[in-house]
Amino acid sequence: MSYPYQIKSFHEYKTEYEKSIEDPAGFWGSIAEHFTWRRKWDEVVNWNFKEPKVEWFKGAKLNITENCLDRYLESRGNQPAIIWEPNDPEEHHRTLTYRKLHEKVCQFAHVLKNNGVKKGDRVCIYMGMIPELAIAVLATARIGAIHSVIFGGFSAQSIADRLEDAQAEYIVTCDGAYRGAKDIPLKSVIDDALIGNKTVKKVIVCTRTRTPVSMLKGRDLWWEEEMKQVEEKGLNYIEAEEMDAEDPLFILYTSGSTGKPKGVVHSCAGYMLFTNYTFVNVFQYQTGQIHFCTADIGWITGHSYIVYGPLSAGATSLMFEGVPTWPDAGRFWDIVDKYKVNILYTAPTAIRSLMGFGLGPLQNKDLSSLKVLGTVGEPINEEAWHWYDEHVGKKKCPIVDTWWQTETGGILISNLAGITPAKPSWATLPLPGVQPILVDEKGNEITEAVDGITSGNLCIKAPWPSIIRTTYGDHERCRVNYFATYENLYFTGDGALKDTEGFYRITGRVDDVLNVSGHRIGTAEVENAINMHAGVVESAVVGYPHDIKGQGIYAYVIYNGTHMDDQSLTRKDILQTVTRVIGPIAKPDKIQFVGGLPKTRSGKIMRRILRKIAEGEVQSLGDTSTLLDPGVVDEIRDGRL
Ligand code: WTA
Repeated sequence: MSYPYQIKSFHEYKTEYEKSIEDPAGFWGSIAEHFTWRRKWDEVVNWNFKEPKVEWFKGAKLNITENCLDRYLESRGNQPAIIWEPNDPEEHHRTLTYRKLHEKVCQFAHVLKNNGVKKGDRVCIYMGMIPELAIAVLATARIGAIHSVIFGGFSAQSIADRLEDAQAEYIVTCDGAYRGAKDIPLKSVIDDALIGNKTVKKVIVCTRTRTPVSMLKGRDLWWEEEMKQVEEKGLNYIEAEEMDAEDPLFILYTSGSTGKPKGVVHSCAGYMLFTNYTFVNVFQYQTGQIHFCTADIGWITGHSYIVYGPLSAGATSLMFEGVPTWPDAGRFWDIVDKYKVNILYTAPTAIRSLMGFGLGPLQNKDLSSLKVLGTVGEPINEEAWHWYDEHVGKKKCPIVDTWWQTETGGILISNLAGITPAKPSWATLPLPGVQPILVDEKGNEITEAVDGITSGNLCIKAPWPSIIRTTYGDHERCRVNYFATYENLYFTGDGALKDTEGFYRITGRVDDVLNVSGHRIGTAEVENAINMHAGVVESAVVGYPHDIKGQGIYAYVIYNGTHMDDQSLTRKDILQTVTRVIGPIAKPDKIQFVGGLPKTRSGKIMRRILRKIAEGEVQSLGDTSTLLDPGVVDEIRDGRL
């Protein structure tokens, strides 16, 4: 199969882009003709950013899993849908053809149904990167329930908050997960998360690590036993639930600048269309190619470019359980060599960390199958870009720098591999249907350029099919977070530059959100976690440039508790607290104990100053005269780590 909507030249990109802006309904309506619908739409798009209300393909009926699985059974039933590479290279890999995956998804959909899961119910999925994770996701969608996948690195407390927010009644998990040398006891974390929980009825546990687990009578069930019952009855097919285009498909929690993580909601039709369209166009996927996205399905990148984008395009998606540096730093290259991977999609932080190991791990690895390289998650610095280009792509593979967000569902700004021009560390041009605009603090479009470059806050003028629909259970929060900063614009939270050719370069967050190793973490969240430690009076968290992680976490802490005689132990206590409250991914890299924090007379912490000190720019702290006590700045500067 080829993709009739795959753009084949720069010229075609320009004409398609124009069409998509002049006539969005005509543009997306004709692409939608290439999908499987139970009923077609009454209207392609209807929206306003005021409420906000965005509806794509209203009136249409579909099930995304019919588009990912059923429609390929005849044409490519024996083609691998998922190739799974285990954490340990000594263990045997697994391949699930489209037929096998369809069968497993149907069987597990029966298991969910047998256990009472109904359309619209929330199913929380907390698993390692094994094929059963993709099966659980698709089975949930098959019966019209809403999945909410939680990354394996989050703590019991984080899970408890998410379960509560989503009012989840079902959990699918594993006994444990392998990640590099580590063995993470997932079920035991779930047990902790469920203390005091009142909504969860059933927990289905898939065996992976054979770590001992406690199974609660009446609540906890083994995946294998449940599947066996279904298999014995020969229940290898289940009719897909008919969904409205705008029914929610999933919730995915992500960090914002304030308070607790928000449950970003994506709906069925628009998300399906846009992840498919961007997958096919950005990576220029050709039938039969092997696509290796190194993300975890616990993040949006895994949802969109391991599961839904590739599978809805009938592609072969490679899923990797482990980490790039275990058992050694040649792991990615071994996988590329072993499966003859054609497309490699990873994060700048992984590239930078592998750069640190030099060229040794690349030696004697055959990377000649690679056709396209991609990056996502954070700005890529030029050094990493060139290393990737030279040593991985051997200067023969276009690199796509894909900018997008959990809230956007799919890639919004990126070059199209080999079709539109690339520019190191620039995400370049918007995808068809995407209208970026740079604005100043007041929301006025920035038109003035300095040396040909305009700079401002990145917003989008009109909806694309997979734009966030709401934040679960709190629509007002969605409005305030994304649509209220600037009238009639979706605000991304990112700053960007634009050059004379209309190329965009994303410079990073302009709000209090950090991007640590490509993981989104809110400074407020980390502060709340630190403040839970008994000895902490107050804290302030900022980001600072970090060679490998992109950004590191710098915490200023006022502390008057025990262990103060031993600062290094106190630091460990605080790290332990953060690990408990959020998870190890949010641990500060640096903790500086301070006597006070720079506050304005109205009590607001001046983060600008703290950021500068953390960045080491102590000469240019700016005006500190409005501070309640300017003296604290000197103390903090002198004690800088
Ligand atoms: C950042 C990940 C520069 C950005 C898909 C955004 C990027 C946040 C890029 C979203 C890129 C993502 N260049 N920055 N190519 N891709 N970002 O929700 O700050 O985990 O707002 O989604 O990552 O992170 P999220």
